Amino acid sequence: MKPVIMVVDDEPLQREIIQTILEGEGYQVETAASGHEALALMKKAPADLVLTDLKMTGMDGIELLTAMPRGVVPPPVIIVTAHGTIDSAVEAVRNGAFDYLTKPLDKTRLLLAVRKAGERVAILSENARLKEELYGRFRLEGIIARSPAMRQVIALLQKVAETSSTVMVLGESGSGKELVARAIHYNSPRRSRPFTAVNCAAIPEALFENELFGHETGAYTGAVGRRQGLVEASDGGTLFLDEIGDLPMAMQSKLLRVLQDREVRRIGGKESIRIDVRIITATNKDLEGEVEKGAFREDLFYRLNVVTLDLPPLRERREDIVPLVEFYLQKFSAEFGRPVREVSPEAMRLLIEHRWPGNVRQLAAVMERAILLSDGPVLTRDDVAGRLQARRPVDPSRFELPEDGLDLEAFEKEMIRKALHRTGGMATRAARLLHMSYKAFLYRMEKFGIKSDRQDP
Ligand SMILES: Nc1ncnc2c1ncn2[C@@H]1O[C@H](COP(=O)(O)OP(=O)(O)OP(=O)(O)O)[C@@H](O)[C@H]1O
Ligand SMILES: [Mg+2]
Repeated sequence: MKPVIMVVDDEPLQREIIQTILEGEGYQVETAASGHEALALMKKAPADLVLTDLKMTGMDGIELLTAMPRGVVPPPVIIVTAHGTIDSAVEAVRNGAFDYLTKPLDKTRLLLAVRKAGERVAILSENARLKEELYGRFRLEGIIARSPAMRQVIALLQKVAETSSTVMVLGESGSGKELVARAIHYNSPRRSRPFTAVNCAAIPEALFENELFGHETGAYTGAVGRRQGLVEASDGGTLFLDEIGDLPMAMQSKLLRVLQDREVRRIGGKESIRIDVRIITATNKDLEGEVEKGAFREDLFYRLNVVTLDLPPLRERREDIVPLVEFYLQKFSAEFGRPVREVSPEAMRLLIEHRWPGNVRQLAAVMERAILLSDGPVLTRDDVAGRLQARRPVDPSRFELPEDGLDLEAFEKEMIRKALHRTGGMATRAARLLHMSYKAFLYRMEKFGIKSDRQDP
């Protein structure tokens, strides 16, 4: 496909000459007698390439260049200029023009410039398409998943979405559990039915039954009218029980009954109501540990844990960091109207290496603040570093001295080993983690006979 070329010139003869040459080569040509006319035409049908005279009455070529709509792939602009105004043409190239040609136009040079611009359009649109495809493939309802671990999660998610299986989503705080729960619902045949999220940690124990199962008129003092519970309200859809580890014992047995019988009874109600609801639960607690401690019913645990979706912490899937950073960069710079376009390589390195105890939610917060406070087109290392170090240092007084004492040296040695492991063997950075000088750190490494398999530059 030959590109569509917009030829802009206020001299009719010049337009005609260029049109004839280009059409002779099979290009499709549109012409405009002014910058304004060109803009109006391109609004209706975008051109792939613009060839414009520099000096025109009204809007000149450079003004046209800057007024051009910026699509995914903005069309390259070639400026045509008379000999005397080459300086301005060079200026135009600095302002983003693709190339410039001097009058009188040489046919060979014209065609060469147009062909080069056409190739560039092809490359750029191919890039845009590939990028689109990449994100399209790995994103499901806005879930960014480039790492193999997350792609596995997505594959399992898609499979389970087709069914009505009960799903348990596990993962650290901020790792995307709720996002995944919603994605299951909205990719399932239940998508047009309600998705109800209940935070089990936020409902006072006394209100739980009422919230989940509802009540009949006069069921208890103060029960005004009848009320549907959340389980009933989710009929046909999905009930998401977040922080399931905080469900009170009394409620655990009631929930178990719902799962077994697939029906609910309102408080004070006589008959049971059949319900068809998919249950998804989430927790960042070690629920098996809770079962062992007797804080969570074992039978309920097995009922809920039919399919497990385990979200790895962000630090164990660092491939996702770059696309997440790019995603939040676009989102927040658009939201705040900030001209931040890119993240410097140093800043990116810092983001990739960070431990992210708060996972994706923390990364989003760091990006939000960094973009809000940055004042250039590039997010620098400093913009980001300040946000990362804001965490409070560990307070040593929080550590109890164990009953039968502690081998302080062994403790120190272990921390040094851990610091080195965390930094991939980089002693300078490991020293910084332990608030130590590089020399002091090396001294201790030697003292404890710890070797780093990597030398610092
Ligand atoms: N893979 C991802 N792609 C895009 N956004 C994500 C991803 N994972 C998480 N997020 C975003 O990060 C934020 C936190 O995610 P979410 O609320 O699902 O975490 P959570 O595991 O439920 O956390 P908590 O345990 O603290 O409730 C949300 O804004 C979510 O949209
Ligand atoms: Mg959550």
